[in-house]
Amino acid sequence: MRVLVVGSGAREHALLLALRRDPGVTALAVAPGNAGTAAIADQYDVDIASGAAVADLARRIEADLVVIGPEVPLVLGVADAVRAAGIACFGPTAEAADIEGSKTFAKDVMDAAGVPTADSETVDNPAHLDAALDRFGPAAGDPAWVVKDDGLAAGKGVVVTPDRELARAHAAGLLDDGHPVVLERFLDGPEVSLLCLVDGETVVPMLPAQDFKRVGNGDCGPNTGGMGAYAPLPWLPADTVTQIVDEIVKPVAAEMVRRDIPFSGVLYAGLAITSGGPAVIEFNCRFGDPETQAVLALLETPLGGLLHAVATGRLAEAPALRWREGAAVTVVLAAENYPGRPRIGDVIVGSEADDVLHAGTTRRSDGAIVSAGGRVLSIVGTGPDLAAARAHAYRLIESIRLPGSHFRADIALAAEQGRIVLPGTQQ
Ligand code: AMP
Ligand code: GLY
Repeated sequence: MRVLVVGSGAREHALLLALRRDPGVTALAVAPGNAGTAAIADQYDVDIASGAAVADLARRIEADLVVIGPEVPLVLGVADAVRAAGIACFGPTAEAADIEGSKTFAKDVMDAAGVPTADSETVDNPAHLDAALDRFGPAAGDPAWVVKDDGLAAGKGVVVTPDRELARAHAAGLLDDGHPVVLERFLDGPEVSLLCLVDGETVVPMLPAQDFKRVGNGDCGPNTGGMGAYAPLPWLPADTVTQIVDEIVKPVAAEMVRRDIPFSGVLYAGLAITSGGPAVIEFNCRFGDPETQAVLALLETPLGGLLHAVATGRLAEAPALRWREGAAVTVVLAAENYPGRPRIGDVIVGSEADDVLHAGTTRRSDGAIVSAGGRVLSIVGTGPDLAAARAHAYRLIESIRLPGSHFRADIALAAEQGRIVLPGTQQ
């Protein structure tokens, strides 16, 4: 099987490495890729927001399967264009991708499916903003305001703050730019990312993971696209994954089938484990980044056959997923000033190892690998337990040099130390 992966992040690098381990995969290509993926796949520089360009490339290289990583091409209908060209594609239709592309659509589906999520209001008129702010946040008994961009924002559209001026400024800025704003109730409790393979009403969960959204140690500073992740979650009760699948993901998948918008691909449930049980923070229509880097490091099932089964409507026939024992931790090395405008063009030393996944990197004409984006590398450590996996990841990251770069030192630390407490339980 010849596989084309679309995207250029560490998630795509992780997908390529896992696909390479599948004996059924005979050729790997990536578009556009980065300096790291160039070592393991044929690289093509096409506009991945263009369905025609991606379908054309897939046809030209005789791909049997196209795997689309990021949300933007999915929301723009690139999977539809690939399928229209007669090529199997892993990733939802544009319509189904709106489960991520429009928070208002996602809330509507969850409402119809009876799935627990934060109550919310969409505001699209600045004149209604102040009254709406009064109905949320500390003014209404919540610890903080939760203000979101209704559309895609690369993980940076959300502000959670007890400061009304900050909440208002974020909302007003979005409205000024013509983006509807979603205000939400605050959901308390540790977060879980559950990436599920979905094909119509068939749902197969992967290992639960946890992502670190804030830029700084101790969850300080602004939200990012994700600074690290680990899997599995030793603190999550054994039956919670089944509960999330049965009470949240399956009802949503069924509701989408009922609306004639069946989902195919990865449906990523971002959840808070509240005192009332799991509740949805958001859905994504794709593999999470950086969760995928940790989750795929533990997957033993050949990935190509699995993704092809989803893409061709045969997930229900696929054998149960097999996982390596132990844990995986991924730590993101970010460029100076990320999540603001990152400093780029710096030479990176020590990034050419198998467990170092590339995101914002490019190879200069003199052969040096240089930074080219905010999240530059994603280092993956594995081991028999979280402590060993963390130690592995942090040992690797210490051997890499990138001027001005930063990373969080506390990825998976609270879990390793048994400090994650579920609301309503005693430790
Ligand atoms: P999102 O992009 O929707 O995943 O939001 C980014 C981060 O903001 C989440 O991972 C949470 O940490 C936080 N967040 C989003 N929505 C809520 C909410 N309703 N209550 C508490 N925290 C939230
Ligand atoms: N890790 C969060 C995301 O992929 O959106």
